[in-house]
Amino acid sequence: MNIVVFFSGTGTNLQSILQNEKKLNYKVISTFTNNPDASGIDISKNFNIDCKILDHKKFDSREKFDEEINIYLQKLNPDYVILAGYMRILSNFLVEKWKQKIINIHPSLLPKYPGLNTHERALLAGDKLHGTTIHYVTSDLDAGPIIRQQSIEIEPDDTIESLTEKIKKLENKIYPETISNL
Ligand code: GRF
Repeated sequence: MNIVVFFSGTGTNLQSILQNEKKLNYKVISTFTNNPDASGIDISKNFNIDCKILDHKKFDSREKFDEEINIYLQKLNPDYVILAGYMRILSNFLVEKWKQKIINIHPSLLPKYPGLNTHERALLAGDKLHGTTIHYVTSDLDAGPIIRQQSIEIEPDDTIESLTEKIKKLENKIYPETISNL
């Protein structure tokens, strides 16, 4: 199974997907980022993976940017497109082209807290449980069919930082496993 991984930031999920590649049944054939400063670019290099960098700020519209992404994907024809901290909303055009092939990981127990600042929102609401969700991407933000969800308990002394760390640790474990079982 060939996959392409999209990221925008630190890339801990990318790193874990790459580290587990040999023991699981997928192959990362390329990575993609919209952020020329993302740490995941170096992670890709360390694993000898070609990383396509396309700065969205150089495009007039989301559609034009996504058309370029589509050309890139068509050349590679991956089985799945894995979003791992990719911080751009995909246009309907791209979602339709790659229907049921784009997977995302979102740091909340969806349908709770789609969008940004999920750890802060869970803390402010006084939630006892928080977690992460792996789901298919549809044109509704963070609302596609759920593939896997896992929760953690929020401790009284948890902060945004501690939750970020705990959730990423959990994601780094379950994302590669889940991809492998697609
Ligand atoms: C993760 O928490 C993921 O759920 C969210 O963005 C974060 C990416 O982290 N979509 P990293 O770049 O993989 O470290």
